[in-house]
Amino acid sequence: MSDRTAGADSVLAAERVSKSFGEVPVLFSVDFDVRAGEVHALVGENGAGKSTLMKILSGLEQPTSGTLRLDGEAQALPADGKSEALGIVVIHQELNLAEHLTVSESIFLGRELSRYGFLDRKAMRTEALRILDLLHVQIDPDARIESLPVADKQMVEIAKAISRDARILVMDEPTAVLSQTESEALFEQIERLRAKGVAIVFISHKLDEVKRLADRVTVLRDGQLIATVDAADLTADAIAQMMVGRELSNLYPPKKEPDVDAPVVLSVRGLRAGKSKHDISFDLKRGEILGFSGLIGSGRTAALEAVVGLEPMFAGEVKYDGVPTRFANIKAAVQAGIVYMTKDRKGKGLLLNTGLTPNLTLLTLWDHVKGGFLNRNSEEDAMDKSVRRFDIRARDDSVNVGQLSGGNQQKLLLGKVMEANPRVIIIDEPTRGIDVGTKQQIYHIVAALAAEGASVIVISSEMQEIIGLCHRVLVMRDGRITGMLEGTEIAEGEIMRYAAGLKENEVHDRLSA
Ligand SMILES: Nc1ncnc2c1ncn2[C@@H]1O[C@H](COP(=O)(O)OP(=O)(O)OP(=O)(O)O)[C@@H](O)[C@H]1O
Ligand SMILES: [Mg+2]
Repeated sequence: MSDRTAGADSVLAAERVSKSFGEVPVLFSVDFDVRAGEVHALVGENGAGKSTLMKILSGLEQPTSGTLRLDGEAQALPADGKSEALGIVVIHQELNLAEHLTVSESIFLGRELSRYGFLDRKAMRTEALRILDLLHVQIDPDARIESLPVADKQMVEIAKAISRDARILVMDEPTAVLSQTESEALFEQIERLRAKGVAIVFISHKLDEVKRLADRVTVLRDGQLIATVDAADLTADAIAQMMVGRELSNLYPPKKEPDVDAPVVLSVRGLRAGKSKHDISFDLKRGEILGFSGLIGSGRTAALEAVVGLEPMFAGEVKYDGVPTRFANIKAAVQAGIVYMTKDRKGKGLLLNTGLTPNLTLLTLWDHVKGGFLNRNSEEDAMDKSVRRFDIRARDDSVNVGQLSGGNQQKLLLGKVMEANPRVIIIDEPTRGIDVGTKQQIYHIVAALAAEGASVIVISSEMQEIIGLCHRVLVMRDGRITGMLEGTEIAEGEIMRYAAGLKENEVHDRLSA
């Protein structure tokens, strides 16, 4: 175990910091510090207080009690994001970009380059391109933020942060919306900044990343500091155990043998959607968990959003229980028993300024209407059931969804789609931002739903999740399905080969007509 007290070399330190929101305490006398040239990972279950501590370390929230030290000097941090002047740069968990700005405007917001008193757009564009290039991403610097997919927004946020002259860089789940390839590009930059002496705080639920990057790890549980340890002394499993306070076995439920004779519930042929010039075909059987793997931007989300009527379908046919069907909108799909859980929980999934119950029953409000009136008791019953089933943790009934921790928002979203009693469940990134203990719960719920006869499609950028959960896996690349894998074929190397275009199998020959 390493020295827990803020050493002389610590750049930024919190000492006995406590925080309450109103009457509710969420951090209890926590010590935390970060040194120049280290990555200090902060881990803990959903709602443990990681983001709150991070906001205190960057001046966005003021501690209720305790001391902050910058370079050893006790100091209150300026509020309203002004701490950037002190060299503290933050990447937020919830994306924080202004939607109407362009990519290069976002990167230079607040420190625009100018020439002779005029904005030097050309220089900013060139510099933006250089930084995006460091991250190996191709994003148009003139594109508006609102037009970008969520992964690209995250990459712009990262570009913005690394372009600033940070002494202390605080990152709250920067890789939650990224695929492995994009995460690797970020890790290269983190390693470069660490070598330059930047002090880095890194929050993540992906413990393999934590293990790979961190010099030290601090574990929070229910607002309490559990321990700060050298990363070299811990396995990812040991970190998980400290987080949840119990032994975690069987992250994935046992896979049941798929029933080869199960009827096809959803059959898609020649579907063209989104920006893709290609079409895709696949079948989903009763009781099956079908994975969609592939790099971000490979067209998985657009294709499945078209199936449920959220995106236009330019060509192709969908049969539901053998009947040609085209859902005009998501409501029609829900009424037919097909639900879709978006990965964009902030943009498309939840109403952040609204309470939990109205969010939960948004899709199924008509089930709670009796005699022309909304029956609040029946709505509340549904809420109570969901809270228990999905272990949703909120301070009390009065909070808005925006005040829930990220993982609890995700669980509420799952509860919301499950309210519709679906036969087909399409989930885009089911465990984004979710802690390991809750992940295990969600995987077991999904497997149980399939065992009861529901059919599940899982789109995921987390390879282990696809491998651990799915009976069959389709790999997409550039808008096409390039591989279909079953049984023991479902393995990381194999999926990567199809995703990278090194291999292709005759998917179409393996489909019934
Ligand atoms: N502005 C706020 N008002 C009231 N309660 C809040 C507010 N912000 C956070 N909380 C509560 O503080 C607790 C800690 O939340 P926090 O966001 O710090 O958790 P976290 O560890 O970052 O979780 P996650 O892994 O889900 O992101 C939660 O119970 C949360 O609901
Ligand atoms: Mg958080």
